[in-house]
Amino acid sequence: MMEWRTVAVSVFMISLCFLVIPIRVPSSSSSNTIDDDIRLFESYIVRYNKSYRHDPIEYDKRFKHFQISLRGIEKMNKLRTSKESAYFGATEYSDLSEDEFLKLALRKDISNRAERHRIDRFMRQKNYSPEGNLIRYERAIRIPPRLDWRTKGVVTPVKSQGNCGACWAYSTVECIESMIAIKNHTLTSYSVQEMIDCAGNNNFGCEGGDICSLLSWLVDNQISILSESLYPVTGKTDTCTLERSPKSSVRVTDFTCDSFVNAEEQLLDVLVNHGPVAAAVNALSWQNYLGGIIQFHCDSSFKMLNHAVQIVGYDNTGKIPYYIVRNSWGPLFGNDGYLYIAIGNNLCGIANQVSSLNAIW
Ligand SMILES: *[C@@H]1O[C@H](CO)[C@@H](O)[C@H](O)[C@H]1NC(C)=O
Ligand SMILES: *[C@@H]1O[C@H](CO)[C@@H](O)[C@H](O)[C@H]1NC(C)=O
Repeated sequence: MMEWRTVAVSVFMISLCFLVIPIRVPSSSSSNTIDDDIRLFESYIVRYNKSYRHDPIEYDKRFKHFQISLRGIEKMNKLRTSKESAYFGATEYSDLSEDEFLKLALRKDISNRAERHRIDRFMRQKNYSPEGNLIRYERAIRIPPRLDWRTKGVVTPVKSQGNCGACWAYSTVECIESMIAIKNHTLTSYSVQEMIDCAGNNNFGCEGGDICSLLSWLVDNQISILSESLYPVTGKTDTCTLERSPKSSVRVTDFTCDSFVNAEEQLLDVLVNHGPVAAAVNALSWQNYLGGIIQFHCDSSFKMLNHAVQIVGYDNTGKIPYYIVRNSWGPLFGNDGYLYIAIGNNLCGIANQVSSLNAIW
């Protein structure tokens, strides 16, 4: 019954590495005057300590981008269909043009690397197949109306990646933490920095990486995964300091990389019958996200994947069924560091590339 679609693809992901701290934009829109915009911009500049406050040319340029953001925010907020719908407001990045934001988020060589990587991945797949690197799930439990792994004590506190583009490492390590907690009933933070510094296989530390290539590196090399306290985060790419005799027996034994496009009920099945998963997403529209369920205007195309998150549950009980998505932009982002994405339309590309894993110790 439960057929895993082994589309097994790996997209090369470069992360959005921002810490987004929002301020609210008043909902009045038709009556907006330039004076309102200026007042808002003035408080925005103070709030974010923008360095251009004394530079008239830069000030004008940033003000124009800010105004465009404001109109976009107003437009997005008008689309709200219920009080659960996503709402948007000014954030640290609201004074950037879309182009600037894209440049921060994506890289020129992204498609080339993805293509190379994709071919590589298919070839490697063969080596895994005797045992099957795919985790097969029993359809043991019917899908309940809602599931939140946070309430089961298997999700560590929200982390902050700061200026380091290692969302690929954060989301993967978060899944390792959860899977060990589910099996062993002990919740430990594991080292993201170890992945940033040490992971080969086309991963580039804070410059970007990919969940699936990290997982295949971990499995192929039987990497022992240290705890966060043994290998703490520094927020930049450093020299790898893994020792020859490892201080940890924790390892990833197998993993999946699958597409659940048009098959999101299977994604729910994995969440229920296996555990939290890591997913590649397009986070561009999260720039101004303050909270609520994202239902619109979050491009789902494979090409647009630029970030990675952990999915820790879902809720099917309300008008708008949604995924519970853990971000790594600190606890001030969105809803206490989390955001909600509507289920069913591959919104933000969330079903394009989803990974689950098993770990032993
Ligand atoms: C604001 O930015 C300036 C430099 O642009 C810096 O010297 C100052 O410490 C900052 N203030 C705060 C409160 O961050
Ligand atoms: C598993 O649980 C035991 C008993 O609580 C604990 O001593 C051990 O450190 C745990 N192992 C891991 C990898 O968390």
